[in-house]
Amino acid sequence: IKSLDQVDKMRLAGKLASSVLEMIGEHVRTGVTTEKLDQICHDYIVNVQEAIPAPLNYHGFPKSICTSVNQVVCHGIPNDKALKQGDLVNIDITVIKDGYHGDTSRMFAVGNVAPHAERLVTITQECMYKGIALVKPGAHLGDIGHVIQAHAEANHYSIVQEYCGHGIGVGFHEDPQVLHYGKPNTGVELKEGMIFTIEPMLNVGTFKVDIDEEDGWTARTRDRKSSAQFEHSVGVTADGFEIFT
Ligand code: MF3
Ligand code: CO
Ligand code: CO
Repeated sequence: IKSLDQVDKMRLAGKLASSVLEMIGEHVRTGVTTEKLDQICHDYIVNVQEAIPAPLNYHGFPKSICTSVNQVVCHGIPNDKALKQGDLVNIDITVIKDGYHGDTSRMFAVGNVAPHAERLVTITQECMYKGIALVKPGAHLGDIGHVIQAHAEANHYSIVQEYCGHGIGVGFHEDPQVLHYGKPNTGVELKEGMIFTIEPMLNVGTFKVDIDEEDGWTARTRDRKSSAQFEHSVGVTADGFEIFT
């Protein structure tokens, strides 16, 4: 449970994280490398925002942002490969400002993408907002997981179970775990002042993922079909929710 003073700091951290996503949009184009996107975001966070890119050196993560392209589910490491027309890329930004974290991600389409790819992105974003809409005191985390899973599966997508949302504040990943599947009326009961992320990952095919054996981070769909993700940092207010990002 965060105090009003802490909520103020989360507001600022959230705003900065979302500003990085707004800033980087115009750079996400055919031919750009994800390493270049990382460098632009890093410089913006450090020099303009005077904030800290939380991923850098987090449990050994080597870059300042995560870039997850096509079949990469999450935790993609920016590299020297150029984006190409038709790619879907998730950019996940976490900044630390005055000791507090803001964590958010969204999908970007590179050039024109296929209608089925657009549809995956749309449904994934809808899942996140359907989850957020249920946030209020007295609701349970299982309500959120359930609505996300139901909307994904109604559209013939699967929900990744290996990764989840999380409490956030002074810590990057705090309790509780926010599962993107589950049953209504189960799990932690929400109380005013809680802050956590909702960040569903939807797959076109199997929900199963593999972690890259060489880098230890990159999570790919086992069948190498596409995956998409959106993330917001959300607080529980007296009668509902506030999106910080
Ligand atoms: N931003 C991710 C999340 O939503 C975590 C990235 S951890 C990293 O929780 F080390 F890969 F950066
Ligand atoms: Co997160
Ligand atoms: Co994130």
